[in-house]
Amino acid sequence: MGKKIKLGILGGGGDSLIGVLHRVASQINDNYEIVGAVFNPDFEANVAFAKEIDIPTNRIYKDFDTLVEEELKLPKEERIQVCSVLTPNFLHFPMAKKLLENGFHVICEKPMTTTYEEAVILQDTLEKAKTVFAVTHTYTGYPMVRQMREMIKAGALGKIHKVDAQYYQGWINTIIHDKAKRSTVWRLDPKKAGISSCMGDIGVHAFNMIEYTTGLKIKSILADFNYLYEDNQMDVDGTVLIRMDKHVKGLVRASQVATGEENGLSIAIYGEKAGLRWEQENPNYLYVLSDDKPAQVYKPGHAYNSDLSLDGTKLPPGHPEGIFDSMANIYLGVARAIRGEEYNDGEFPTMMDGVRGLDFIESSVESNKKGNVWVDLK
Ligand SMILES: NC(=O)c1ccc[n+]([C@@H]2O[C@H](COP(=O)([O-])OP(=O)(O)OC[C@H]3O[C@@H](n4cnc5c(N)ncnc54)[C@H](O)[C@@H]3O)[C@@H](O)[C@H]2O)c1
Repeated sequence: MGKKIKLGILGGGGDSLIGVLHRVASQINDNYEIVGAVFNPDFEANVAFAKEIDIPTNRIYKDFDTLVEEELKLPKEERIQVCSVLTPNFLHFPMAKKLLENGFHVICEKPMTTTYEEAVILQDTLEKAKTVFAVTHTYTGYPMVRQMREMIKAGALGKIHKVDAQYYQGWINTIIHDKAKRSTVWRLDPKKAGISSCMGDIGVHAFNMIEYTTGLKIKSILADFNYLYEDNQMDVDGTVLIRMDKHVKGLVRASQVATGEENGLSIAIYGEKAGLRWEQENPNYLYVLSDDKPAQVYKPGHAYNSDLSLDGTKLPPGHPEGIFDSMANIYLGVARAIRGEEYNDGEFPTMMDGVRGLDFIESSVESNKKGNVWVDLK
């Protein structure tokens, strides 16, 4: 391993949900040093947070444009190489686009942009930039999710016929029933979140998990959304039927008002020979189901797992892998790509996953709006 990769952070301040996950994950495999940031739009808060976490303040900038301008003045070997974009959704596109145009690598939070059109523009920008781009569908980094992908690829399930991904949360319950509160949350504001709350925020993870684990593409969808108040018609719940092929069907179910649910992401894939089931809140168990044998439980770190899964574990079996490790595995893959080393294409979600995600979000909104009709993905 060479020198540490110079990482910049946009958003993810002390007031944020996701900032700590990226900061810790970037440090887990000793590949990155955080050298610059705009953690918050308010400069004082920005500098105060940098001091709090003990990062030198000389490259804490007042805003994103200044970060790009000032970093480009530095000699290449000192400059930020990759930026993590952890802001609310509407800022992902302008930030990621400008970063790519100026030669930076990008690690972007999901949903990658707020529209499909922006996603395609970003894809063109990346083709010209030829830098590394990752979308942090965090859960793909778990060793047992990687194991699912590899088992399916190796034919352990035979022909797949049913897929079912669920992402149930209940946190919007504490906000949605209060008129004042529901007008202040960015996830319920289409100008900041994009056209969907629930499908855009969490349904898209479930969608991505289906395509990541099966290696198949979802071809068409039919969505039925729910909102609870007329003054905020952003979806807070939805069910999407999916067709992957003539005889491969399933669903994505997502909710932010599933009372009492925390981060209930789960996925089940059923084939002619076996079924696989995995749950994010118990991520170290992968259930292998069969018609003629007792159910088996696969766990991380054992030699029976695939190379891709084993690459994502750092300690012997019995040391649980969690969400920080999962994100760290994505950062590890990105580090290898930036250094020009060999890596498995399952190590991190790419621009294509980002584009597919926006296609799914927009198509599900369209399907719901048109009265729950089938819509083909592009
Ligand atoms: N991968 C995952 O599992 C996962 C989980 C949670 C959130 N997310 C995504 O991460 C992103 C952020 O979500 P969050 O929950 O952390 O949001 P948040 O509202 O908790 O935090 C957003 C942060 O961005 C900062 N910010 C806002 N405008 C900025 C600007 N102009 N310049 C710099 N910083 C700015 C805020 O000050 C804050 O620190 C969203 O796109 C969300 O979808 C992904």
